[in-house]
Amino acid sequence: MKPVKVGVLGLGTVGGGTVNVLKRNAAEIARRAGRDIIITRASAKDLDKARICDTTGILVTSNPLDIINDPDIDIVLELIGGAGIVKDYVLQAIANGKHVVTANKSLIALHGNEIFAKASEQGVIVAFEAAVAGGIPIIKAIREGLSGNQIEWLAGIINGTGNFILTEMRDKGRDFADVLAEAQALGYAEADPTFDVEGIDAGHKLTILASIAFGIPLQFEKVYTEGITKITRTDVEYAEELGYRIKHLGIARQTPEGIELRVHPTLIPERRLIANVNGVMNAVLVKGDAVGATLYYGAGAGADPTASAVVADVIDVVRALTSDPENRVPHLAFQADSLADIPVLSADSFKTAYYLRLHAEDKSGVLADVTRILADHDISIEAITQKEPPKGETIVPIIMLTQVTQEHRMNAAIAKIEALATVSGKVNRIRLETLG
Ligand code: HSE
Repeated sequence: MKPVKVGVLGLGTVGGGTVNVLKRNAAEIARRAGRDIIITRASAKDLDKARICDTTGILVTSNPLDIINDPDIDIVLELIGGAGIVKDYVLQAIANGKHVVTANKSLIALHGNEIFAKASEQGVIVAFEAAVAGGIPIIKAIREGLSGNQIEWLAGIINGTGNFILTEMRDKGRDFADVLAEAQALGYAEADPTFDVEGIDAGHKLTILASIAFGIPLQFEKVYTEGITKITRTDVEYAEELGYRIKHLGIARQTPEGIELRVHPTLIPERRLIANVNGVMNAVLVKGDAVGATLYYGAGAGADPTASAVVADVIDVVRALTSDPENRVPHLAFQADSLADIPVLSADSFKTAYYLRLHAEDKSGVLADVTRILADHDISIEAITQKEPPKGETIVPIIMLTQVTQEHRMNAAIAKIEALATVSGKVNRIRLETLG
């Protein structure tokens, strides 16, 4: 059979890794796909830049449109990233009748609804396994492996850079900025690293996971995102004393009132497997009504792991080339005309437990005032600890864990606690999930 011709847009970490894996494993890949898959063209912004891959035999251009408009190319791999001009490239490739494989989470989270509609009109596939959790085949697992289930919730460490930073801060006491610089040098971080540390990247990925888990349109604008920049070593230590780890989680949960979509630092019991996922590794817990809880773990970023997901998509596309578009796995797991308009809840309605750290005067009645405010808001306390005051000071740190409550109650209680004359500064609040 004729080889399938692939054009690669972008020869950075992911593009370079994909060229390497497709070349290195060419024979094995052909045995799986039933045909040879060859990269004939690639594009790179800077033609003279040193690369992690060997481009021998590949015609390299600086203009992606040379590839997108080349009638000989069957599949376009969009590995540039970002959602600006890249969206036009992808739409043009689709209009030209080409299948597209992308690792671009922001593109799919922000423009996926439009892109998939256009792809369906043209009868082409847009595959995006590499967009979420790097090398972990989490899209395939949810979209196909768990398709008999009603997904109840999922929770994941889906940003490798953030997890790397939290791990290094906890284990080695390293500085935030120093670890972030290392993540950038290793090619893990986004072009704009605030996307990693402020939860935007995880929000993009959560948008995609929630869509294929619950059969809802992609709606990044409704995801609550909170980053890791306010996590202190003190909180990490106090959490550990209480038997918890702090992880930056993306959580999607189906409730009777609607769907919660949230990214934020979270205390989780240290006995959970996911609490022990460290460094750049990612993990996603998915709870289905039939299967129960399932856990997927692996490298969430980096050249070869991400290439593993890109190449798996390429093989899937090659296998489906001769199939009737109607009979392919739907882009968002559910038939496009069956996506449901389930409301996405605002942060006020989230139901979760909390870790609270506050600083109060070390005198009688202070704790009683704080606990009375919580009781007035129907918030039940799970644990409470008062720490020694720093030497020569009379202000003591108080750490509390609460039971599950609704976020608007906690907001109101915190406002009242902060207004107490005996409490100084802000209450530091971190959400807590048992993931049971
Ligand atoms: N910046 C991302 C991360 C890359 O650190 O997880 C993989 O999507």
